[in-house]
Amino acid sequence: MNTLEAIKTRRSTRKFKAQPVEIEKLKLIAEAGQFGPTGGNAQGNHFLVISDAAVIAKLKELVQSAFAAMELREDLYKSLKNSITLSRKGNYSFCYTAPVLIVVANKKEYGNNMADVACAVENMMLAANELDLGSCYINQLKWLNEDPTLLEYLRGLGLKEDERVYASVAIGYADTESGLPNRAETPRTGNEVVFV
Ligand SMILES: Cc1cc2nc3c(=O)[nH]c(=O)nc-3n(C[C@H](O)[C@H](O)[C@H](O)COP(=O)(O)O)c2cc1C
Repeated sequence: MNTLEAIKTRRSTRKFKAQPVEIEKLKLIAEAGQFGPTGGNAQGNHFLVISDAAVIAKLKELVQSAFAAMELREDLYKSLKNSITLSRKGNYSFCYTAPVLIVVANKKEYGNNMADVACAVENMMLAANELDLGSCYINQLKWLNEDPTLLEYLRGLGLKEDERVYASVAIGYADTESGLPNRAETPRTGNEVVFV
């Protein structure tokens, strides 16, 4: 698969098989993240590659509790409203059934934190596609990145005191008949381009 092909056929996967992902593939994906560009070559991204089912289950529990405690207001972002509603019903799995979650943190006080993390996440999603794995950008840990309970738990996993989570990515084999991720290209309806 060449780069343009990997870009155009990368689609979000939200249903995963329980099948574990080989460590060799996870190393290649994490490395693709490490090779992303960073502002001023800061290289301050910090990747927590989580494939321990108990840890993922605990994160799901903490995320659900945090959303369930939030006020549900009509003016909230649609996706956030959905997270709160499902969490209150005890029915929320922010990273779906993915067997792997890569959490990406960066320094809280660094101006390009989210940009550097997002570049790494896209690199990792493209690498996952190349390796026949499905992936999905997951934003919830960023929304909850000042939640004290989650912060304490993530610090136990290696998050540093001055870091916060800016994105995560769910990874695994797609729950499709072939086991391959959906790669159907969708036409662009936005993202306007002007050539001058
Ligand atoms: C910044 C950002 C945040 C996103 N957050 C989530 C998320 O929390 N959960 C989710 O299922 N998808 C999330 N997505 C995936 C988008 O919904 C998805 O990329 C978009 O609908 C286009 O579909 P495609 O990835 O299949 O092309 C996010 C994507 C981006 C770029």
